[in-house]
Parts: sequence; structure tokens; C-alpha cells
Amino acid sequence: MPTLVVTHWQTPAVVARIEREFTPRYNTLGRPYTQDELLAAADGADALFVSSADKLDARFFQLLPASVRVISTFSVGYEHVDRAAAAAAGIPVGYTPDVLNDATADIALLLLLGASRRAFEAQQLVRSGEWATRGTAHLLGWGITGKRLGIFGMGRIGRAVAQRARAFGMTIHYYNRTQLPPQMEEGAVYHASAESLLRVSDFLSLNAPNSPATRHFLNAETLAMLPHGAIVVNTARGGLVDDETLIAALKSGQVAAAGLDVFEGEPKINPGYADLPNTFLLPHIGSATVETRTAMGMLALDNIVAVLEGKPAPSLLPPPA
Ligand code: DGY
Repeated sequence: MPTLVVTHWQTPAVVARIEREFTPRYNTLGRPYTQDELLAAADGADALFVSSADKLDARFFQLLPASVRVISTFSVGYEHVDRAAAAAAGIPVGYTPDVLNDATADIALLLLLGASRRAFEAQQLVRSGEWATRGTAHLLGWGITGKRLGIFGMGRIGRAVAQRARAFGMTIHYYNRTQLPPQMEEGAVYHASAESLLRVSDFLSLNAPNSPATRHFLNAETLAMLPHGAIVVNTARGGLVDDETLIAALKSGQVAAAGLDVFEGEPKINPGYADLPNTFLLPHIGSATVETRTAMGMLALDNIVAVLEGKPAPSLLPPPA
């Protein structure tokens, strides 16, 4: 059976398949491998089953043992993979799109509601026992029905967010590099520029990949374009946000509240967020359901098995632009 390096925890169903189809080498360190530890573990292995915590850069592909024929990442995001270096080394890299769309969109709505209904402060009030001392004027949030939701990045997850938000009576606006056909827009209003989208976004959901083009998309200049008191949610990547400027906007009231599942430099986060009552913060759990994590694991393994058997793989990373 092929030898597979597994760098992170998997659900029981995925582990059972790994045990059936591979000779596994698990990371048992209780933390992500360093790059050198991963390279050492890869020595003599046929395939690597990695996550977005594993940095696969040019150095990694230069030093990758020749035994390795395929890598699959347990994520839809792939900014941790140097695709040009992978292509130069002749290593196909699989990833796990689509299977996490619903779970991630659910978390976007949780953030949207959590931020707009001041869920963090409300939780504190109940848990601290201070509830009884507060009157009815306390903890008034901001309604979402009839409001405009701007979606920055109308890919598969963005569209799943739109579908859910419509059910809450929100009007959907979006920016994307290209306009979607009407059957995919489902009535959403297209904006040809991000600036135009920002100006109408009572709520803003970030759903674009992290790339040099989107890095710090939300910054002092773009935050100022939002309607005063807008609410921002991010389930994409922390790198889309310039943290200091968002924190300043949360303090000034330009942004009324933010719901964040992803952070630049996570798991270390800018401490300014934790100090603010108007933030609703989650530890990157967009895809964290048993069903979704199992589907992601199975798809990652499907990619590996297909390449090892010389068959077309279901989801390999697109070639570099
Ligand atoms: C993904 O799949 O990219 C999720 O954000 C988990 O990293």
C-alpha cells in the first residue's frame, strides 16, 4: 500500500479509509510540522495529505523527496501552495472545493447575525449574572431584513451566502471580476467596481480568496466608502483585512460591528479585536462540521488515489496564472 504522510487530525471515517488504503505516517506532535519536519516525514512516502497550516513554498518543492508523487491539501484555500514551484517540480496538488460551501456560508450568517444582534455582549450578560440589572433599552442591535448585503467575491461560497441572506429578506449586491449569468445571479445586483459595491453595503461579506490583488482590500480608504454604521463579516481569509484600520473603524462607529472567523497571522490575532465589545469572533471554524470535514478528507484522498493510479483527479489546483 502507498505510504501517506498525514499532517493533521482527521474524522474517524477518514482515518478508517486511510488505514484501509494506505500505510499512514501521522503527525503525532500535537502541532503543525515545521517545514523541515514535513520534509523529513516525506522521505520515502508516496503522497502527502496536508492542510493550510503547511507552507508549501519554492524551498519546499526544491527539497521534496523524489518518492513523493502527489500532495493534497485539506482546504479550498491554497495561498499556502506555490503553484508555480509545484508545477516546476511536476507535483500535482489536490484541494477540496465545493464540499465546504454550505458549512462556510452557515458561519457567515452566524457572524452576520452574531455581530448585528450583539451576541458577544449578550452572552456576557447572561453568563455574568448581570442580566437582571439591565433594562429593555439594553443591547439593541441592527436588523437585517430589507438591508443590502454586499458580497465581495461571488464564487461558490459567496453564492451560498447570498442564498441564505435572501431568506432573511436581504437585498444582494456583489462584486466579482466577471458578472455572473442571470441564472446564477438570482436577482443579485452586479457592481463593476469594488468601490461601487462598498458604497451600498449596509452589510459586507468577504468571500474572495487571499491573493496579492485582494490583500488588505479592507483598509482605511475602503472602510470609509461603506455607509456609516456598516457591519462587516469575514469567512474568507484574514489577509483581506488591514486589522488596525478595521479596529479604528469599529471604535469610531464607522463600522458598527464585525463578525470574524479568519484573521491575519492566525491563530495569533490582533489583540485589539478581543478588547472590543462590538466584535463577534470565531476561531476559523467555517468548515468545522463532522460532515464537511469528512467530505473534505474524502475528496483530498480521492485526489491522491487518482493520481497514484494514473487516473484523472477530481480536484487539482488550477495552473498558475
Ligand atoms: C479552507 O478550506 O480553505 C478553509 O478555510 C480551512 O482552511
